[in-house]
Amino acid sequence: MEKNSGTVQELKNREQIEMFLSGKDSIEKFMRMMMQYECAMLEIKTKLDVLNKELSLQKSRNPFETIKCRIKSPESILGKMKKNNIPLTIADMEKNLNDIAGIRVICSFPDDIYMLADCLLAQDDITLVAKKDYIRKPKPNGYRSLHLIVEVPIFLTDEKKPMRVEVQFRTIAMDFWASLEHKMKYKKHIEKAESISNELFYCAELIAQLDGRMQQIREKIEKGSGA
Ligand code: GTP
Ligand code: MG
Repeated sequence: MEKNSGTVQELKNREQIEMFLSGKDSIEKFMRMMMQYECAMLEIKTKLDVLNKELSLQKSRNPFETIKCRIKSPESILGKMKKNNIPLTIADMEKNLNDIAGIRVICSFPDDIYMLADCLLAQDDITLVAKKDYIRKPKPNGYRSLHLIVEVPIFLTDEKKPMRVEVQFRTIAMDFWASLEHKMKYKKHIEKAESISNELFYCAELIAQLDGRMQQIREKIEKGSGA
């Protein structure tokens, strides 16, 4: 998750924003767009917080442990647009990038992920844009998470606007794997990289088994029988 704090970073960001603004795009327009993504992110976060409160009362446990929100930095936005040959305009950014507003929901158990995702998608102001289920169908490297791109309307003084937000759902164990894998991926000059990939894949399988077993233990405790 990127952080944008400190004066130096702000100055760097301003320069980067200016670099990709052309014609009728202004820095004010870019800032307004980022504000809109932040509002959409808050809308989804609130919906998830509400679900967590209601479900924790019903189940005497929290369906999710942690929720993290982030807005993509101008640096990452610019990098992704250049990499994908997207014209450098605000309109093309909005049309092509689905992950400017991102939320990561860390659950205790795999079944909580689907319960929360289903409850969110059932709400009548939410539109599902795309779904990638890397839990039922993990990535070849072993990566697991459920990714949703959803659209939510935000209500501003003079308009109602649908905005896209990426929501990633993972268990604590999947997050542990993904965080370490992400950190290690950027280490350069690895010898025998294939054996490391194989080991990471093996760890991802172990983690999936663990998640399944912890869920079974929870079910037994809920039933009140170890049988
Ligand atoms: P991005 O361009 O990275 O946004 O990927 P994408 O548009 O192909 O979407 P995808 O749903 O596959 O991945 C989106 C996000 O999921 C990434 O930005 C990461 O946060 C996470 N992710 C996807 N694959 C991996 C992976 O192999 N390892 C880790 N650690 N994270 C991953
Ligand atoms: Mg992304």
